[in-house]
Amino acid sequence: MTNIMTLKVQRVKESRLSSTDFNNLPFGRVFSDHMLAVNYQNGQWENARIIPFGNIEVTPALTCLHYAQACFEGMKANRDVNTGDILLFRPRENARRLNASAIRLGMPTFSEDLFIDYLKELIQMDKDWIPDMEDSALYIRPVLFGSDDFIGVRPSDTYQLYILIGPTGPYYGKPVKVKIEEEFVRAFRGGTGDVKASGNYAATLHPALLAKKEGYDQILWTDGQTHEYIEEIGTMNVFFIIDGKVVTPALSGSILPGITRDSIIQLFKDQNFEVEERKVSVKEVLAAHQAGTLEDAFGVGTAATVTHIAELGYQGQTYRLPEMETRKASTAIKEELIGIKTGRVADRHGWIVRVS
Ligand SMILES: Cc1ncc(COP(=O)(O)O)c(C=O)c1O
Repeated sequence: MTNIMTLKVQRVKESRLSSTDFNNLPFGRVFSDHMLAVNYQNGQWENARIIPFGNIEVTPALTCLHYAQACFEGMKANRDVNTGDILLFRPRENARRLNASAIRLGMPTFSEDLFIDYLKELIQMDKDWIPDMEDSALYIRPVLFGSDDFIGVRPSDTYQLYILIGPTGPYYGKPVKVKIEEEFVRAFRGGTGDVKASGNYAATLHPALLAKKEGYDQILWTDGQTHEYIEEIGTMNVFFIIDGKVVTPALSGSILPGITRDSIIQLFKDQNFEVEERKVSVKEVLAAHQAGTLEDAFGVGTAATVTHIAELGYQGQTYRLPEMETRKASTAIKEELIGIKTGRVADRHGWIVRVS
């Protein structure tokens, strides 16, 4: 059985830190010296270890390669600008969601407490990899997959959990152009859209390529049955400000329950904004645009924090959102969220977990 006492540590012989260009940190490409690995076999998690980041050997018959029995998480750590402490943002929520994904895919769950303890150990070891530039963070990517050497559709008997970490700069540098999708479907109720199943993302790649060819950065997904209701963006939940009210699609069973979404709703409520979680139709948003009451639209997520939408594309028409200077409420909320994550703003909701 694993516990924090049995965590084994194997350090790198030579750190890659000094040869890493911290002024050029494209998302997802730079990894720190170490990673966490845990194996599941014989009905239990064992052999928890921190080892040098590097390739792993797997069989081409690997369960997850054939049947996508895999899920992942995305989190960030920052330094407290005042104390230099390492701050994790709501890591228990990620541990919970990883387990929700695991259950939906027929995989074993992992202790939330141990997940956080192991993550703290790993980050502590590679703490010098946390960038301190504005807009940068240590990105944390847990991934869990079925690892049986067997081609057959059934849950794997063995699993591997890895946690990779690496410094990253901003995800999107500027406001994005999004296409309201009417042909393809990301998720539907009863499917896996409300968990972070790896296969969810594979299904979005072809539509995203087509959208890119049309000049869009991202797809704004609509519901799978009618395409009338807005769901979310590829890696972000979506918010609108319509006539002074904050509006976001309710969690319908096909939308990922974003941790940033939940936090942003709370921060808006703290500022006495009316926040409506409900069905949001494409028609309503475009009518608000026409009437001049669509004040703002933005995506929220761990990787992207708050990313403003510059343009909505629908049925070949372009709907431009107001200039950035007017989008004060969402810009202030973004600053507040970044402030909480970096210790500049008081953590009044108890979201921060310190690594020490
Ligand atoms: C499909 C999808 N929606 C929303 C989000 C935002 O979730 P969170 O705020 O927990 O990062 C993500 C990113 O994890 C995502 O992949």
